[in-house]
Amino acid sequence: MQVGPYELLERLGAGGMAETHVAIRRGPGGFEQRVCLKRILPGMTEDPELVRLFHEEARVSARLGHANVAQVLDFGVAEDGGPYLVLELIEGSNLRALLREDPEPLTSGLVAYLATELGQALDYAHGERVVHRDLSPSNVLLSRAGEVKLGDFGIAKALSAERTRTGVVKGKVPYMAPEYAREGSFEPRSDLFALGVILYEALAGARPYDGANEPETIAKAARGERVPLAERVPEAPAALRDAIERLIEPELEARPESARAFLEALHDVHPPPTARRILAKRVRGLEAKAQATLPFEPTQPARPAGTLPLTGATAGPAPTPVVVPAGADEETRTRAPLEPETRTVRSGPPLMDGETKTRVDPAADPAASRDELGPPLPVASRLPLWMALGALAAGGLAALAWWLTR
Ligand SMILES: Nc1ncnc2c1ncn2[C@@H]1O[C@H](COP(=O)(O)OP(=O)(O)O)[C@@H](O)[C@H]1O
Ligand SMILES: [Mg+2]
Repeated sequence: MQVGPYELLERLGAGGMAETHVAIRRGPGGFEQRVCLKRILPGMTEDPELVRLFHEEARVSARLGHANVAQVLDFGVAEDGGPYLVLELIEGSNLRALLREDPEPLTSGLVAYLATELGQALDYAHGERVVHRDLSPSNVLLSRAGEVKLGDFGIAKALSAERTRTGVVKGKVPYMAPEYAREGSFEPRSDLFALGVILYEALAGARPYDGANEPETIAKAARGERVPLAERVPEAPAALRDAIERLIEPELEARPESARAFLEALHDVHPPPTARRILAKRVRGLEAKAQATLPFEPTQPARPAGTLPLTGATAGPAPTPVVVPAGADEETRTRAPLEPETRTVRSGPPLMDGETKTRVDPAADPAASRDELGPPLPVASRLPLWMALGALAAGGLAALAWWLTR
């Protein structure tokens, strides 16, 4: 399928509002560029509010250019009238998939590396007066080379005043700062809170504030009711634990005053120089695993009989958007484009919580394609059967000839 000058290849993910694809743009002289194309879900392009949000995402994220932020490359309108956003393609995975599917917990060295990279992304974005507002593991993109990039500025905002009052709270509840959940006010330190939840989860394997339901989760975060990291991971460096826990303090004033201050607090916990390489290896391991469990897709070459068994590919439950009205301005009518992390539904095989799984294009990665197709058919092992059948047929013919000539 063609969208502007881009040909859509496989789908990477689909949320309540938009879907992302690997896409390719071809040009003269064999020019090819693989990109990530994000567009409003077909059928929803008539919704002026969604289109407004999408334009805002494009406008805000196009202002950013940093090694730790997924770069915007293009923005346009497709033949069907729907807008599309083109981003640098980060081939690899995302932190949600890594946390869910890699059985090995993240080492404190890797968490320190994530903390530094994401801290730099926020330091930069906040310096450009942009708040992200939807930091969560699925929006932390991890490349095969071990890079960490912040994506999905879908509800990001350009800051006009020191504190933004938005009226409607959008985002994923477990990562929401108390002041945002309570009164809809958002500022750079609210992004720091979400970063802290992500890092706590990466280090401890569990979220700091996790109630039986969303109001309970919000209440626990507001009270700062959590198990200290010292109890969960006593072996992790105290400086790392303390820096993370300061991010998730319910009171704004108790958090570091900026992403830069957080990076300074991390000064003593240098990530090991090998962290990037180790992350790269784990991302590639994850990709290989994802390939091995991919369901059959008609757009891909037919799978020969006798290869890998198919995994069940049923869609998860329908996404339930959350809108917490916190004021009566024009944004109150906004349909929330995002669901809580645990309720997000994506394409592809069912995952533990329906989260996104990034997949590589088998056509572009011969190794992955080999993995997906599985081992070649064991032709040699079928030979004796054919020989026996042949012998039987020959015997039958000989018997018939003998009977006829008798
Ligand atoms: N630039 C990119 N490169 C590769 N994969 C991406 C990119 N942007 C997003 N993705 C994948 O698509 C998923 C959904 O994209 P996202 O922008 O977060 O949309 P949504 O608003 O639906 O959450 C991400 O979790 C990630 O796995
Ligand atoms: Mg997202």
